[in-house]
Amino acid sequence: MPVTIVPARDAADHEACARMMAASEPWITLGRSYERCLAAVSDPSRELHVARANAGVAGFILLTMKGQLPGYITSVCVAASARGAGIGSQLVTYAEQRIHRESPNVFLCVSSFNTGALRLYERLGFEYVGTLRNFLVDGRDELLYRKSIGPWSSFVPSA
Ligand SMILES: CC(C)(COP(=O)(O)OP(=O)(O)OC[C@H]1O[C@@H](n2cnc3c(N)ncnc32)[C@H](O)[C@@H]1OP(=O)(O)O)[C@@H](O)C(=O)NCCC(=O)NCCS
Repeated sequence: MPVTIVPARDAADHEACARMMAASEPWITLGRSYERCLAAVSDPSRELHVARANAGVAGFILLTMKGQLPGYITSVCVAASARGAGIGSQLVTYAEQRIHRESPNVFLCVSSFNTGALRLYERLGFEYVGTLRNFLVDGRDELLYRKSIGPWSSFVPSA
């Protein structure tokens, strides 16, 4: 399915992403309601980018570019019917290019039970940093991953 990845443009995009997220693992296990998903994807301090297909939004990636760990992939999701066709890889690669305009590091957390996503990130070259025990909900760990193009000392931001 050919997609174009672009910044989200309106409330309809936010609602489509929140619906996709609330209906999918890992957010079901993490207890995220549609309302919380909508608040997360609509947060003006974050950047939402969508994979647009002819039929509508096929996936999205949510980025946090501010704070102590700028360049954080907060969430990535592909519509259940569109998975396994490369859209998730395209979204992460797009996010890396966006983040590397401002930071040498891409960070993300993945739930320890999300073995499919873990495989994807490792295939894309992310390195395991550490385990955040009981981070989002009791009894579930988040694994912190990083992909870096070098130290801050030699990083040159681009426009
Ligand atoms: C993880 C996810 C974004 C990958 O998107 P995708 O478009 O299926 O990814 P690609 O087609 O580029 O790559 C497929 C890889 O994703 C992983 N994957 C995870 N869940 C999958 C699923 N339901 N179907 C197919 N692949 C899946 C596999 O590891 C696969 O890697 P492999 O080819 O080495 O087996 C997508 O499966 C998804 O939205 N999952 C639910 C939400 C989620 O877990 N997000 C990550 C939170 S940290």
